[in-house]
Amino acid sequence: MKILITGGAGFIGSHVVRLFVQKYTNYHIYNLDKLTYAGNLNNIDDIAQSPNYSFIKGDIADSNFIIELFKKHQFDGVIHLAAESHVDRSIESPMDFVLANVVGTVNLLNASKLIWGESATDKRFYHVSTDEVYGSLGKEGFFLEDTPYDPKSPYSASKASSDHFVRAYYNTYKLPVVLTNCSNNYGPNQFPEKLIPLFLNNIIENKALPVYGKGENIRDWLYVIDHARAIDIVFHQGINGETYNIGGFNEWTNIDLIKLLCSIMDRKLGRSTGTSEQLITYVTDRKGHDMRYAIDASKIKNELNWMPSVTFEEGLEKTIDWYLDNKDWLNNVTSGDYQKYYQEMYDTKG
Ligand code: NAD
Ligand code: DAU
Repeated sequence: MKILITGGAGFIGSHVVRLFVQKYTNYHIYNLDKLTYAGNLNNIDDIAQSPNYSFIKGDIADSNFIIELFKKHQFDGVIHLAAESHVDRSIESPMDFVLANVVGTVNLLNASKLIWGESATDKRFYHVSTDEVYGSLGKEGFFLEDTPYDPKSPYSASKASSDHFVRAYYNTYKLPVVLTNCSNNYGPNQFPEKLIPLFLNNIIENKALPVYGKGENIRDWLYVIDHARAIDIVFHQGINGETYNIGGFNEWTNIDLIKLLCSIMDRKLGRSTGTSEQLITYVTDRKGHDMRYAIDASKIKNELNWMPSVTFEEGLEKTIDWYLDNKDWLNNVTSGDYQKYYQEMYDTKG
């Protein structure tokens, strides 16, 4: 099997690439990544020399390049993770999200259809998506696979659009697709623009912790390795045309989570209790900030026997230890352009 994984130098993609390269030594894994600010080959340097692994630098929004790539390698499967992934950036630059997430996905669908033909049976196009396509919940209820789409941010609108194209290619051309919509991931190698690594980095550096609004928004958190395990299971056992929601059964208000991070960091850094909490600073809310995401993951649990393997406490400990043990990684990704990004994003929030 020749498997193309897109976005394999990013956060989740790097964990998926590692899992597949190590577990399926009879597959050849091709990792296609543009290496944007979020792509980092250091994330996978431990498997870079594996005989069943190749890295390809390229842009999924470049249709000619994608067609030539598919003609050359004749992939049997695609696991598509490459995307612009940060909501705040989508609010500033929506078109980047249209190009990467919508145009990029349609290019991959077209190339798969060209190489596999219509109604292929022994191939698989796996599209990795997000729970944000379902919109925002109030206090009650959960997102199910048939919850109507109601994306609210340019990021989630671009992901929703890509999901619709994937389903349209299944319906129209019988392309053998499968989709998953997952909740918030956390773990090693996450770029420190997202809540958990950003706040850990700021605590280490004694910088303000910018809580949007009142910190009352709710997210469901899943350890990234458990997402990678789910992707493995769905890629191999999922049913064509089906969607599976993936979640951690683990809802937290931002402020409670932030206080937990502060207390663990105080302990690990040998600071007295309450030190890091003093860094909490309430800032202007994210525009159009979704209040609550909550996934009902019973379909993947009941039909494919997947469940998270680590508790949130275990996952957070592992995650925090990783960032503390990998300060070089953090320093590398927060030097240069990151400083400019941080100023532009946060100086205006007050
Ligand atoms: P990330 O931003 O860490 O990584 C994205 C990767 O895609 C980077 O390596 C980047 O270089 C690459 N990329 C971006 N544009 C590209 C292009 N035009 N061509 C080729 N490569 C390109 O993202 P992530 O958090 O790892 O998310 C991966 C996928 O999972 C995304 O599709 C995202 O929507 C989805 N997802 C993420 C989460 C989460 O909590 N992070 C949750 C659910 C779903
Ligand atoms: O739900 C899945 C989605 O989770 C993925 O599809 C996205 O790619 C991923 O980025 C994530 O989106 P969120 O917007 O939920 O994640 P983020 O880490 O940006 O923010 C989490 C919560 O924390 C959110 O309510 C906003 C808040 N926040 C975030 C940042 C960066 C703050 O209060 N302050 C901050 O500085």
